[in-house]
Amino acid sequence: MKYIIFDMDGVLIDSEPVTMKAASDALTKYGVEHTMDDFKEFIGAGEDKFITCLSERKGKSEVIDAAMKEMYSLIEERAEKELFVYPSSLKLLKELKKRGYTLALASSSAINKLKVSLKAANIPENTFDVILSGSDVTKKKPDPEMYLKAMEKLNAGPSECIVIEDAVNGVKSAVSAGITCFAVTTSFDRETLKAAGASFIKDDIIELLDVLDALDNENNNSAYKAILKRRSIRKFKQTPIPYEKLEKLADCGRLSAFGANMQPLKFGIITDKDMLNKIFPCTKWAAYLENGTPKEDERPAAYIAILGDTSIKSNGNFDCDSGLASSSIMIAAQEMGYGSCMLGALDRDEIHRILSLPENLCVVHLIALGVPKQESRAVTMRDNNVKYYLDKNGVINVPKRNLDEVILKF
Ligand SMILES: Cc1cc2nc3c(=O)[nH]c(=O)nc-3n(C[C@H](O)[C@H](O)[C@H](O)COP(=O)(O)O)c2cc1C
Repeated sequence: MKYIIFDMDGVLIDSEPVTMKAASDALTKYGVEHTMDDFKEFIGAGEDKFITCLSERKGKSEVIDAAMKEMYSLIEERAEKELFVYPSSLKLLKELKKRGYTLALASSSAINKLKVSLKAANIPENTFDVILSGSDVTKKKPDPEMYLKAMEKLNAGPSECIVIEDAVNGVKSAVSAGITCFAVTTSFDRETLKAAGASFIKDDIIELLDVLDALDNENNNSAYKAILKRRSIRKFKQTPIPYEKLEKLADCGRLSAFGANMQPLKFGIITDKDMLNKIFPCTKWAAYLENGTPKEDERPAAYIAILGDTSIKSNGNFDCDSGLASSSIMIAAQEMGYGSCMLGALDRDEIHRILSLPENLCVVHLIALGVPKQESRAVTMRDNNVKYYLDKNGVINVPKRNLDEVILKF
């Protein structure tokens, strides 16, 4: 875990009372009837929703602009005196910086309100390497866009990040972006946060330090865990993978073991939408599953094509080298938070043509990659049956032979 992405309201500061009071005063001034309870469903989705949604609901869309202006000016006026900063916030941010974490802020608030709040809370803006506000996204939380953008700006993979949230909308947004979520119970109760998908739920954000310590311990001995967790994934979220991550994965292939150290492989990184669409019909998926082929919105975000160079190794036998390189790539991808599937059932000639490859390069395998949209786990094999299957929760169960069966003691 290297990157910590904070929501602001309800996590570092509590500007909710100031904001709701300002929204309420602004709505009252412009004759929009409401109760404070009406605000609850919009918490975490940007304070502008308090004004727009409630005005529209009461058929008073014409007052939105004026009420919005009024709300922001009241917030600015009152923030310094009335904004509540959680006692652990400054201590936590300081400690995380000391420990070398990269911090980001991803709040649905308007940028002005965000700056006013940070100033009032005495949190310097440069505490965060990346700051995203409501105007940086087209779709607000619970849509994953905010956290996908944060990852893109941080150049981070989902499993390198943890999101700190308080609101159901925010937890859902983080989880749909494939990021583990730590939630504080400042706005919602444990059951609600758990149902939204939070992995860790605590009453005080300072407890994040214990969670990070535990995760760090877990990551020691991470090679075995990554191998155990790496299962073939065939349904992916439509989340792009930063190019630098794909380069890193290709680098893992480059550093693999090679017979006679010949290194006859090249790694084709394919992310272009058009090319992805052309390649997909050249692949075959999950022979043992009914409906195992990913639907259009479940296809991989990228492929790494493992290419064999016959000008380096003329016998054309690349399977073993490709297997080792693919394994390194898939395990590294697993550690970054990406799912993968090695593909060998391919129309190689057609892929060769689509990629306009020269004569000396042949397609050995493809590695499909993306944020997983399904789960898969290793289970004990019964009756010698090698066929993987879906359990009642839609999780792929991959039978693996018992350790006793495969180890021969000499
Ligand atoms: C050489 C090779 C070729 C493969 N080709 C395909 C393929 O074309 N399509 C597919 O869906 N899975 C393919 N797989 C994935 C296997 O089905 C998968 O590794 C196996 O079922 C075990 O599951 P696991 O990877 O989760 O352990 C391939 C795996 C290997 C090693």
